[in-house]
Amino acid sequence: MNPSSDLVTTLARAGQQHLLAFWNRLDEPAQRSFALQLEAVDWPLVEQMRRLGAGDGHGRTPSVDLAAAITPSCLRLGDASNRIPPADAIRRGSEALGAGQIGAILVAGGQGTRLGCHGPKGLCSIGPVSKANLFEVLLGRLVAVRRRYGRDVPLAIMTSSATDAQTRSFLADHACCGLDPDRVFVFRQHDLPALDAATGNLLLDGPGHLAVAPDGHGGMLVALAEAGGLDWFGSQGVEHVVSFQVDNPLAMPLATEFLGYHLLSGADFSTQVVCKQEPGERVGVVVDCDGRHCVVEYSDLPAQTAAERLPDGRLRFYAGSIAVHAFTKMFLDRVASRHDSLPLHRAFKAVPFLDADGNRVVPTSPNAHKFERFIFDLMPLAKRVCVVEIEASDGFAPLKNPTGAASDTAAHVHAALVAHARRLLAKAGINVAEGVDVELAANRIIDETDIKGLLKSGTWLDRPIVVGG
Ligand code: UTP
Repeated sequence: MNPSSDLVTTLARAGQQHLLAFWNRLDEPAQRSFALQLEAVDWPLVEQMRRLGAGDGHGRTPSVDLAAAITPSCLRLGDASNRIPPADAIRRGSEALGAGQIGAILVAGGQGTRLGCHGPKGLCSIGPVSKANLFEVLLGRLVAVRRRYGRDVPLAIMTSSATDAQTRSFLADHACCGLDPDRVFVFRQHDLPALDAATGNLLLDGPGHLAVAPDGHGGMLVALAEAGGLDWFGSQGVEHVVSFQVDNPLAMPLATEFLGYHLLSGADFSTQVVCKQEPGERVGVVVDCDGRHCVVEYSDLPAQTAAERLPDGRLRFYAGSIAVHAFTKMFLDRVASRHDSLPLHRAFKAVPFLDADGNRVVPTSPNAHKFERFIFDLMPLAKRVCVVEIEASDGFAPLKNPTGAASDTAAHVHAALVAHARRLLAKAGINVAEGVDVELAANRIIDETDIKGLLKSGTWLDRPIVVGG
């Protein structure tokens, strides 16, 4: 069959006729599915991406005056000098969980390119002893919360074209890791085409397929609303929603103290940070610019500025963002209704493509621009932001890089999980022999209280074990 005249005209107008170069090599079903993909392209958005691709910036809007910016004042987990007493926060957070007012969004649509994932990162085995995968650990934590507070935390999981089918079949085959399937809502984010950095043209990654990538974790906003997820949260009685990432098995978005600070401070956007120690750490930082909070990506922070220190020795911009947030549902409803809520960011990446002769090229250096939206760009739209500093060792162990890299590898994450488990066990009076790997069953143990219910104080553990498993 021939491509429709509308499609041909659209591509001609956009200067993208090359996309049909291999049309005649496709069988009819492939032609049909390629036509659907092309018809779904948002050409005005592509035009915006081309302009962004041609410019120098990363697409951050608005730009931040770093000279005037400061690190916002943070509440610190467990700090009695906080303006809100920790005990009050814990009480309030527990009440909200017990009343079923909290929902959660797990963003799990990333391609895991640095790690070299083929499929969802959530399926990567991470339990140091159990070998449980990231989904099992993170969804297990919600099971533990239900066990303690007697109410489910409705969970929306964002997938992408790269992760959707495998995630859904994993959840179906594993009974949603113990969560009530009616309280789990899977939705898929959109893709955006990658653009050839030299020409600004769309690329093919097959004769009948555009090279595309998920539109960033910020794609959550539009995709959730379009899929009916915000209404779904509403129908479940949810008034506040936390979000967290699939590659951080230590994430504690439902820590009662964090929830309590969010609720008692009247924030519409709360966020967890860790104290960035070294200027070179690759985390964005939360800054306060004239009363408005935002995250500045590490790539946007000049090296000299990143290295500036406060008189007490901390970095001037030390509030490292770990992508664990809490929002009021009303805030999400408000920003989801605005098309321009989240700006596009550009990244220069190696993207496989078909050359003019139809040969597949796998570049070893960046050749194309990918475009993403980030959740943290919602922060400047919030009326009140609450920043809560946590210890990295309690809540941040991201899996980003392949074995052998200097940071954020599976070995680093294992070590962090074991160290965390050993600390909680020590608090419960349990001794663990030197060098022995221990793990806490994510679906049973939130803190030392749960351990005390399982093991007697003074118990010795001298072989690898999943406590509560
Ligand atoms: P990252 O961008 O750090 O990791 O995403 P990634 O995409 O998994 O891996 P790289 O960058 O290709 O190596 C952080 C979190 O945001 C989610 C990821 O699944 C991860 O939980 N994410 C990222 C999405 O859900 N969608 C995206 O489009 C991008």
